[in-house]
Amino acid sequence: MDDAFDPVASGARAAFFKAVVNGLSQLQKTLPCQYFYDEIGSNLFEQITTLDEYYPTRTETAILQQNAADIAQALGPDVLLVEYGAGASTKTRILLDSLNRIAGYVPIDVSEDFLLDTADGLRNEYPDLPVHPIVGDFMGRFGLPSEARGTPVGFFPGSTIGNLDDVEIGAFMRAARALLGADGQFLLGVDLRKSADILIPAYDDSRGVTAAFNLNLLTRINRELGADFNLDTFRHKAVWNDAASQIEMHLESLVDQSVTIGADQFKFTAGETIHTENSRKFDLESLTAQLSDAGWQLQHSWQDERRYFAVLLLSAQ
Ligand code: SAH
Ligand code: AVI
Repeated sequence: MDDAFDPVASGARAAFFKAVVNGLSQLQKTLPCQYFYDEIGSNLFEQITTLDEYYPTRTETAILQQNAADIAQALGPDVLLVEYGAGASTKTRILLDSLNRIAGYVPIDVSEDFLLDTADGLRNEYPDLPVHPIVGDFMGRFGLPSEARGTPVGFFPGSTIGNLDDVEIGAFMRAARALLGADGQFLLGVDLRKSADILIPAYDDSRGVTAAFNLNLLTRINRELGADFNLDTFRHKAVWNDAASQIEMHLESLVDQSVTIGADQFKFTAGETIHTENSRKFDLESLTAQLSDAGWQLQHSWQDERRYFAVLLLSAQ
């Protein structure tokens, strides 16, 4: 029944509502980027990964393919692969195909339907692979499924770590250290600092897919929280913040207007923005120092020839 009371969904909706009202009440309005990923947002992200301008997916995939044997050897046998923000698990397949006697796969993602469909697809493709999806926020508290076997290895590709701030990175990596244990290893994809001429088109593509991805957040707020954002009066904006070494995505109001969400009204002046995402571009030296503070030692780094992207192998220390 469509209108049946679903306490899980209503709890999630309450959290979404709270996050939106809190974000839009700030002086610089903001929305948490994890809410991009409803079913439509997850599919739009998959389209982004195929764009000519969006170099990260292509580059990281090539690094994983070219070094798959070395990575498999470094990780060893009987791996329980724990993937944070798994999405379509496309890069995962490179590891699944190269690892020696993989013991299981635990994908974690907030995008519930997308995650569960992906898990079903993997079970069909890899009938011997135990797949244990976890629906939820990877910043939250969760344990490994009791039925999962093998030596835990964290996998966090896509430079999704770049969507977190320093405090979140510390908390996330410390929690991963606790979850994966003293023998844990971690494979981390990180996007590196590069020229704004390459970065801006990657986040403001010529076909407007990134714009649709950003604007879909307002569509989701309208649908799930009954808001009245007029999508024709907001535009996508990608800005390079050199001092913070991050691409920022914003939604800019084109007119003076007010938007209603439940009992709350939010005023926008023309040109005012909602800051929706940071995508940080890292310097390896400072990132590895930060990872070390959070309990992870760099063992190896694989990079492409242009040094656009790095895949880091970390071990618990
Ligand atoms: N790993 C894939 C997908 C990256 S897109 C790749 O490398 O291409 C980021 C993914 O992380 C999305 O699937 C999104 O739903 C998920 N995600 C974002 N924030 C999250 C959070 N806080 N908790 C769990 N999943 C999250
Ligand atoms: C998931 N994350 C690492 C992507 C990124 O590049 O920051 C999300 C994205 N935003 C715009 N394009 C892609």
